[in-house]
Amino acid sequence: MKTASELTLLQRDSAHLIHPLHAPAVHVSGKVWISGEGAYLSDADGNQFIDGLSGLWNNTAGNGRTELADAAAKQMRTMAFASGYIGSTNPRAIELAERLAELTYSNINYFYLTSGGGEATDSNIKLARYYWKVKGKPNKTKVISRIWGYHGVTLAAMSATGIEAYWPMFEPRIPGFTHIPSPDPYRYEAVPGSKSQGIAAAEELEKRILEEGADTVAMFLAEPIQGAGGVIVPQDDYFPRIREICDQYEVLMVADEVITGFGRTGRMFGLEHWNVQPDLIQFAKAITSGYFPLGGIGVSDEIATVMNESGSPWMHAYTYSAHPVGCAVALAMLDLIEKEDFLGQAENKGRRLLIKLKEALENHPNVGDIRGIGMMCAVEIVKDRSTKLPFDAKENIGAKINQEAIKRGLFSRVRGDVYLIAPPIVTTESTIDDIVDILAAAIQEVLR
Ligand SMILES: Cc1ncc(COP(=O)(O)O)c(C=O)c1O
Repeated sequence: MKTASELTLLQRDSAHLIHPLHAPAVHVSGKVWISGEGAYLSDADGNQFIDGLSGLWNNTAGNGRTELADAAAKQMRTMAFASGYIGSTNPRAIELAERLAELTYSNINYFYLTSGGGEATDSNIKLARYYWKVKGKPNKTKVISRIWGYHGVTLAAMSATGIEAYWPMFEPRIPGFTHIPSPDPYRYEAVPGSKSQGIAAAEELEKRILEEGADTVAMFLAEPIQGAGGVIVPQDDYFPRIREICDQYEVLMVADEVITGFGRTGRMFGLEHWNVQPDLIQFAKAITSGYFPLGGIGVSDEIATVMNESGSPWMHAYTYSAHPVGCAVALAMLDLIEKEDFLGQAENKGRRLLIKLKEALENHPNVGDIRGIGMMCAVEIVKDRSTKLPFDAKENIGAKINQEAIKRGLFSRVRGDVYLIAPPIVTTESTIDDIVDILAAAIQEVLR
């Protein structure tokens, strides 16, 4: 039951606010968040919930970090804003680019900053097209990405996003965007005789490049671990083969590290798990732990040299690129990641989370798959384990489990019948155990 205060706030909200994924019927039972501490959020009724998705995968440091708040306040007092357009810069942006050059893949040493992930996707698409034009290959404009990939919802990012539900209201999508299957180890079916499931899934890219014509393809965009699409961890041989294919057909390999960047998987960046270097990266979310909207792209030395020597300006710009406050918060966050060993914490706590999920749920007749890496995991619910048959979408099993989990104090999100778990890296071990207990009870309640 909600108190009058939360109900009143929700009514006022509905009168004037339009939300991301706006759906008034869902919002009636929404939460009004008032405060947060560590891995917990409190609503207007004074109830506490575990922040099971770190806000939206971003708040790895948890709420209440005075180091981040102080960095923002100090910079706002000194200089809140100055343009980052060419001819203008600021020390925090310079320091951040220097730090990023040290932290990212060794071939990536140049950075363009945005306000978030979708803008980073657009920036990479535009940069890839520009790069090929300068190289004398103006027809290389197409973008290949993957089903279940999520890259944001600007018109270009939505066209790259491979979750169909985002498309129909806004068709037509931008031409020249195409999707290959996800390597999903649980569901991808390799053609018989394939060397391995991972190689077969990677060779879907080669097949598509050949169908489209290599001279028309600019880039391949992929999250190292697909996040919003259901925490899909690829096979170990997948990305090394993707790299070879991109090299062979002169297609830029773009890693969307918006969720996997800055430690969540137990490495600073996701492709480090497979020793693969992309040509371009994009990041956002955990670079500021959500304390300030900031994202960006990282550019290889080769591409940056082509940009620098092209002789004409790159006609792409955001007012808030290189925002001094965002950069100050990011610098404080990078200090935290290092000082508190976020990488080690994510690796160890993530291992515990996955082991405990398996102990609690592995034998449940409707749990098809339990997967994850570092502090990002998912539990996929199916009607029939032996055939992997999903429940009819109309049964809303995932949404019902989510509601039961919320009743028990765990707030997260689902993708269909896949329950997503990505708590802050600072979550304590006992709270991790609570997450598992609550989810197990919620699944038990819905699927008795
Ligand atoms: C992998 C990935 N890329 C891009 C985005 C889009 O970021 P934003 O919502 O900041 O535009 C997201 C957001 O969840 C994401 O998970």
